[in-house]
Amino acid sequence: MQYGRFSDDGREYVIENTATPSPWINYLQNGRYFSLISANGGGISYIGNPLHGRVTRYRINDVPPDRPGKYIYVRDRDSGEIWSLFWQPVGRDLEKYTAVHGFGYTTVTAEVKEIASRVLFFVPQGANQEIWSGTLRNLSDRPRRLSLYGYVELCLGHGHVDLINQCDDQHFNRVFFDRKENALFATKTYWVTQHSGTQQQENQAWDQWAFFTVNRPVLQYETLRERFIGPFRNEEKPLALEAGELSCQGTDFGNAVGVLRTDIDLEPGAAEDVIFSLGVIPKTSFDEEKSAAVAKYRQRDDVERDFARMKEEWDRRFQGSVVRTPERDVDAFLNYWNPYQARVAFDVGRVASFYYWGISRGFGFRDTAQDTMTVTPTDPEKAQERIALLSRQMYSTGKVLHHFTADGQGESTGHCDDPFWFILAVTEYIKETGDLAILEQEEPFLDGKSGTICDHLMAVASLAGRELGEHGLPIFGRGDWNDTLDYIGGDDGGESVWGALFYLAMLNALIELLEFAGRGALVSDLVPLRENLSAAVNGHCWDGKWFIRAFGAGGRKVGSRECRAGKIFLNSQSWAVIARVAGKERLIEAMDSARELLDTPFGPKICAPAYREIDPSIGLVTRCVAGKKENGAVFCHPVTWAIMAECLLGRGNRAYDYYRKTLPNQVDPDTFCAEPYVYSQYITSDEHTEPGKASHSWQTGTAAWMAKAAIGYMLGVRASYRGLEIDPAIPSHWRGYRVERTFRGTRYLIDVENPDQKENGVASIEVDGEAIEGQVIPLQDKGECRVRILMG
Ligand code: NOJ
Repeated sequence: MQYGRFSDDGREYVIENTATPSPWINYLQNGRYFSLISANGGGISYIGNPLHGRVTRYRINDVPPDRPGKYIYVRDRDSGEIWSLFWQPVGRDLEKYTAVHGFGYTTVTAEVKEIASRVLFFVPQGANQEIWSGTLRNLSDRPRRLSLYGYVELCLGHGHVDLINQCDDQHFNRVFFDRKENALFATKTYWVTQHSGTQQQENQAWDQWAFFTVNRPVLQYETLRERFIGPFRNEEKPLALEAGELSCQGTDFGNAVGVLRTDIDLEPGAAEDVIFSLGVIPKTSFDEEKSAAVAKYRQRDDVERDFARMKEEWDRRFQGSVVRTPERDVDAFLNYWNPYQARVAFDVGRVASFYYWGISRGFGFRDTAQDTMTVTPTDPEKAQERIALLSRQMYSTGKVLHHFTADGQGESTGHCDDPFWFILAVTEYIKETGDLAILEQEEPFLDGKSGTICDHLMAVASLAGRELGEHGLPIFGRGDWNDTLDYIGGDDGGESVWGALFYLAMLNALIELLEFAGRGALVSDLVPLRENLSAAVNGHCWDGKWFIRAFGAGGRKVGSRECRAGKIFLNSQSWAVIARVAGKERLIEAMDSARELLDTPFGPKICAPAYREIDPSIGLVTRCVAGKKENGAVFCHPVTWAIMAECLLGRGNRAYDYYRKTLPNQVDPDTFCAEPYVYSQYITSDEHTEPGKASHSWQTGTAAWMAKAAIGYMLGVRASYRGLEIDPAIPSHWRGYRVERTFRGTRYLIDVENPDQKENGVASIEVDGEAIEGQVIPLQDKGECRVRILMG
């Protein structure tokens, strides 16, 4: 069944059947205040981070699913009929609803009982609040007397403690209505800020007041869930709505809610606006700020002004690169939905989705480093901030925290790959911006020492010469990029072949940077490390037709033809290409083996065959259901590297085949389940009983890397230190395409022609009518230039 489609311009996803197979969501956020919202209004809101700053609640692992959320109930005061402005939670007349997800906003339109409604939800750029701006129109030929009830269920602080210690937590809620401000205010008088939540009470209150208000007189209100919903009921049929009367009592205990009733009377054909807003005010400035904050969006003009500003900001970001290919859905993804998802993942820090509820861990070091690539082209100062933040999670030995919160909590786990992602973030940043000065920026290490960003880079690189196993490969430790290879070699041992390839690729990147920056003395320290790793991989890890994945205890191979399960892993092949570890012939053989043994109709699997027996000397991957997650699913993040590798080998047709198969809109939605407009972490493979089912949508490194793989490697326009590098590897049936890209202050309008239907190769490049040598367009000192590329 089809549930939705892209709008004609590709900028919106229009959901005409909101009974989607899973909640199809959107992120309304300004980098500080976040509201996650499904096509049926379900979702949480939080300030800062979803662990400590949780404003509203959501019930996970529960039925009915996707509850609660941001609801507006309607009660016809003459007939007593009740519905909601999203199809859920009341669930009447499904066919009358359309939800539209756009960039930073969601709208829902409905036509129920001859009342047409439209509500726009968004978070303004400069305010810690979300706006629900609605219009109701009377389509009937009789006057209508309606009551509207805005509804939220409040969490007020620590999301994890709310789940595990609600019996105590409820004694600290305070909710009251302020008639003068026409608003409910709510807070909690204690606040746990420890990462995992404990029984130990910290001596402090939540640092925010939440508020809920509406731009019309509040006639009645409710603050306690038990009184509004009633016993043995749920949000579908709140008891209080049967009579329509609310208690108008504040609360100082229990399950806190905000319910505001306002009435609207409509003559036939008449329409009226209603604007609810939900937000927070820091306690430290509550008295000074509260009146202005609650009144900020009472006028339609103010809402429209700030909505337009938010849209302009997204447009600015999308302008960084604009493509026109022969395929419309490819354009919709590459111009909008892929960069949109990547930016959301960056802003959210990958910590909150409808799969990850933001209650278990902070920012991942490696995830954050990778997501930084996303903002570098359009918001370099944000990338710089993140690079600085990452550098502060590092010890002077080069080791880093595996995950951390902005308030200084974190955990060292010993994943061997983590530190090296720092090299990626910094080198990509400098290629894009040319800002070599960042290398001199001084940042503290975790152990109290201090050093420049260059010192941090060198500290990381030094790890490539230490902590190596008997084959000269990185000691696996608690895992590498693949978190589920967590017991290879027992508690501390094992060696990661992919780790060696990754170190190599990062050393290549660092050496290139240092050479460009004229820091040759440092390069000479790194070259031997690179040579040793390369020799170790070529000497010990070629398995005849592909590279193995690891050595376990006693030198046992993982990812080898000798294994029954997990014979071949995609990452060891694709990163061999990215790291340029061997000659082309061997690299082609490795990628051909991956094609032969891993490819499926949904894209290439992460490894195969999937593990079907638990192997404690490998770890979590073997405990997972076959064909899911890291155990043999189509894990989309490594697919991006396979696409890059195929492009680097010049095999545009194959790169495109992988690209197209993993586009989120390829599989029938009832099978795929997850949103068709964003990437999921994985798709179940042919080794699972239900292949083609996607899960863990939104917060995946796939977003940042797919944009890089597709634009930088398939379309072949990528930043380099000396200029824009051009190296297309496209499907040979494409006769041409266009890329517009801003790079170091110049807008490049690049037209690529492919009259001979090639899959790679550049015959000529003209810049403003002048032919250039080579494939790097030198930096220009003009605002715009036209580039014509002939493939061949
Ligand atoms: C999810 C983690 O966030 C990511 O860092 C990791 O690389 C993948 N799992 C693969 O295990």
